[in-house]
Amino acid sequence: MKECLIAPSILSADFARLGEEVENVLAAGADVVHFDVMDNHYVPNLTIGPMVCKALRNHGITAPIDVHLMVKPVDQMIGDFAEAGATYITFHPEASEHIDRSLQLIKAAGCKAGLVFNPATPLHYMDYVMDKLDVVLLMSVNPGFGGQSFIPNTLDKLREARAKIDASGFDIRLEIDGGVKVDNIAEIYAAGADMFVAGSAIFNAPDYKTVIDKMRSEIAS
Ligand code: DX5
Ligand code: ZN
Repeated sequence: MKECLIAPSILSADFARLGEEVENVLAAGADVVHFDVMDNHYVPNLTIGPMVCKALRNHGITAPIDVHLMVKPVDQMIGDFAEAGATYITFHPEASEHIDRSLQLIKAAGCKAGLVFNPATPLHYMDYVMDKLDVVLLMSVNPGFGGQSFIPNTLDKLREARAKIDASGFDIRLEIDGGVKVDNIAEIYAAGADMFVAGSAIFNAPDYKTVIDKMRSEIAS
């Protein structure tokens, strides 16, 4: 198993102080900045776009930025986010007319590519594109909002995704997003995840480092 990555979702950060919030969470030990892009079309909420990603880069943020696209259509946003400094770009397969093409666009733009599976989206969307995936992201809540509860049967789905990834022989991360907390991260890790998004659990806490340290100690094997 790879080294685990903690990816705080800035959806729960204070947007009025976003640069400082991202600096603080990285100084507290985060590995990756999870960047939730919502369009009020694919999901019923509206957040931030490439300009904000670019602004973080211009502010001096050099950590990997994990752009989670909850938008439809997908393809226009790929080039814009690649230019804005995204490291990972992931999208929901149901939101793309041509999944393989969208993955190729991400790779051609020099970013790491991934598919995102909603709680009820079957994993078979990954079957014929494993060679183009750097990450598979399982949603453990329905997308659109932070602060929701982890859907328990995602643990079985994680085990299924882990088996598919291992059987493929490709080097693919397994990321989990939604309702991840200090008290459930150990079982999520045991089910096969190696990249953990957490929004409210980190940004709603008084001390980011305490939460991140606790999460890491829960998944230290
Ligand atoms: C939900 C987003 C998540 C969200 C996670 O659509 O994709 O990244 O911010 O927030 P928590 O950790 O609070 O469930
Ligand atoms: Zn997300």
